[in-house]
Amino acid sequence: MAIRKIAQLGEPVLRQIARELRREELATPWFHALLADMIETMRDADGAGLAAPQVYESVAVAVIEVRANPRYPGVATIPLTVLVNPRLTPLLSSDAGELAEQDSIFVYEGCLSITGLRGRVQRPRKVRVQAWDQGGAPLDFVWEGFQAAVVQHETDHLRGALFVDRADPKTLTFLREYERHVSSERRVVDGGAAS
Ligand code: NI
Repeated sequence: MAIRKIAQLGEPVLRQIARELRREELATPWFHALLADMIETMRDADGAGLAAPQVYESVAVAVIEVRANPRYPGVATIPLTVLVNPRLTPLLSSDAGELAEQDSIFVYEGCLSITGLRGRVQRPRKVRVQAWDQGGAPLDFVWEGFQAAVVQHETDHLRGALFVDRADPKTLTFLREYERHVSSERRVVDGGAAS
């Protein structure tokens, strides 16, 4: 295993559409090494998730994990989750075009590829996640709230989208100013993990 370099904003790989993986690729040493390295890289960088394009591999796989952190006791945890070729479907109370407030979660997001920046993003609060696991077995589950925000952030990476595309520009803030000016109460509610 190895910690890989994380592509930073402006690298073309972050804007490409990642190709889907074929089932037989999941059994290759190349894939096993990629996955092990992604998990190690995510943990080393204290990220909540990491998508393959962030380590310069334009393929549709993402890892997500939020471990209990004694410094942030109120923040939800997420067990290690590997998503191959994920597809998300927002679960909304109405399909009236615009995302309604009651169907939304607002999270201050960060990204390991946009070091030091945070911004508030509105996303669907509840999503159905369909994917393969690392062995190619089908996954189908529903995530809500902070977990839903994290999985949407990661699948955005697989389509060449970044949280700054979706953030309200007036909420963009550097990390030091975020710590100073976004109240700690608000941060717990809004999450705010980098992925
Ligand atoms: Ni990210």
